[in-house]
Amino acid sequence: MLIIANWKAYIESPAKAKALFAGATRLASKGDHEIVIAPAAPYIGMFTGAKSLVRLGAQDVSCSTGGAATGEIAAGLLASLGVSYVLVGHSERRALGETDEMVTEKVQHVLAHGMTPVVCIGERERDTDAQYLTVVRRQIGSVMSALSPKERLALIIAYEPVWAIGKTDADAITPPDLAEMVLYIRKILSDYIPGRANAKVPVIYGGSAEPGNARSLGSGTGIEGFLVGHASADALTFAALVKAVS
Ligand code: PGA
Repeated sequence: MLIIANWKAYIESPAKAKALFAGATRLASKGDHEIVIAPAAPYIGMFTGAKSLVRLGAQDVSCSTGGAATGEIAAGLLASLGVSYVLVGHSERRALGETDEMVTEKVQHVLAHGMTPVVCIGERERDTDAQYLTVVRRQIGSVMSALSPKERLALIIAYEPVWAIGKTDADAITPPDLAEMVLYIRKILSDYIPGRANAKVPVIYGGSAEPGNARSLGSGTGIEGFLVGHASADALTFAALVKAVS
C-alpha cells in the first residue's frame, strides 16, 4: 500500500522530526509498503538526500511559478529538494479559500516538475439527498478536464471526507461506505480515462485512519493506501497503523 504521513503542523521540533523519520525508515525497509513523509515545508530540506526508502512529500504548493513571489513555495523548489509527492487541495487549504481552479493550477505545476500530485477531495458533510456525490464529481472533474490523457494517469486521488478528519477511528467512514465511494470515484474517473486504464490511478483514503480501523478500511474496499494525519505524528501509533495493514 501507499501510506502517506501528513504531519500537518503537528511536529515543531527538528529532533522529533528526525526521530519520526528514522522510525518511518525502519518501516519502509521491510518493503511491504511505500511510505511517504510529508513534513511541514520548513522541515522538508532536513531529509533531502537521506539514505532511506521513505519518499518525501509536501503538504501544499504555490499557484505561482516562482520569481517575485515572496513567501510562496513553488513546485520547482519542492522538486529541487527531492520531493516526489505533493498534496494538493487538502480540505484544510480549501477551507482557507483554495478553489477548484487553484487546485487544478497547482496540479499542473506539480506535474510539470515531474512530481506526483495527490489530489485531495471529499465532501464536508453527508446530506440525505446525496449532494455530496455532486461535490466529489465536481472536484475530480475540474482537475481531470484540464489535463491531457497522459497527465490524467499521473496522479493519485485521496478521498478524505472532511467530516471524518481529525477525529477518532469510531468517527471514520465505515468499510461498506468507503467501498461504495471508491466505486463511485472509479466511475467518475472512467469518464476521463477510457477503458481499464483508470485502474492506474490509485485511490487512497484519509480521515481518522488509525491502528484500530486501518485493517478493515484497507481490505475489500478498493483503496490502495492511506493519507494519515494525527496518527502519523506519533512514532508508535504510526508503526502500529502500518503493521495493521501488513
Ligand atoms: P487525520 O487527517 O488522519 O488526522 O484525520 C487526515 C488528513 O487530513 O490528511
